[in-house]
Amino acid sequence: MKSAIITGTGIYEIPGFELEKKQIDTPYGPALVNIARKEGFELIYLARHGLDHSTPPHNINYRANIKALQMLGVQRVLATYAVGSISRDIPPMSMAVLTDFLDFTNGRPLTFFEGGKTGLAHINLDVPYCPVIRKKMLSLAPAFGFNIHPEAVYVATNGPRLETPAEIRMYGMLGGDVIGMTGVPEVVLARELNMHFAAVAYSINWAAGLTEEMEFVGDKMGEMRNNLAALLIQTLQELDTFDCSCEKAVMFMHPPEE
Ligand code: HPA
Repeated sequence: MKSAIITGTGIYEIPGFELEKKQIDTPYGPALVNIARKEGFELIYLARHGLDHSTPPHNINYRANIKALQMLGVQRVLATYAVGSISRDIPPMSMAVLTDFLDFTNGRPLTFFEGGKTGLAHINLDVPYCPVIRKKMLSLAPAFGFNIHPEAVYVATNGPRLETPAEIRMYGMLGGDVIGMTGVPEVVLARELNMHFAAVAYSINWAAGLTEEMEFVGDKMGEMRNNLAALLIQTLQELDTFDCSCEKAVMFMHPPEE
């Protein structure tokens, strides 16, 4: 089983790995990925905003990215998201493993199943993020110097603007813990392809209205980034058996037509 890492704001390399850039042409357009290699171990590395951070959240071709991973044989994905903190338990500079999400995006292509040749299917999201990858990452985290919050509800907004204080109060009331612009439809599309998909969020600011002035601490994360990349890789390397239901997420109502 092949693995992939998808990174967001602030993480654009995997220390120690050699990267070979590759364009994968998918039915949804081209996707730029990197084959990352180190001492015989290989994984696929995708920087969702591009390695030069030039693609804004609403313009990311999520379908091309996830389809490209599938075309390369990827079945396990670990994603990182830079987020704002809503929950007091997950302050800036801390991390949380995602367990659920609230989707407030709009206008983004959010399925591979458009009827006709692609069929009609619904996916089961009662456990949205792979619990096996999540547990493995949590168990390895202390060895990498991390105390990762074990659960979090991710609020996905369309961006690229940040939120108003009233919106953040609303998202907090609805149960959101952290907020970002790229988590959906990425996880949804990966689950539509029956992939094991887990994610960790690192907070770079208090969300709007929670402090007098908004401050972004992304630049202060320094070493933490390299350690996080190392934790992601170790997690993917140590995965063994999967006793989760991720591979059975898709329920076809109408099969793909010939
Ligand atoms: N809101 C939305 N997305 C974000 C934020 C935020 O405060 N911080 C990092 N990504």
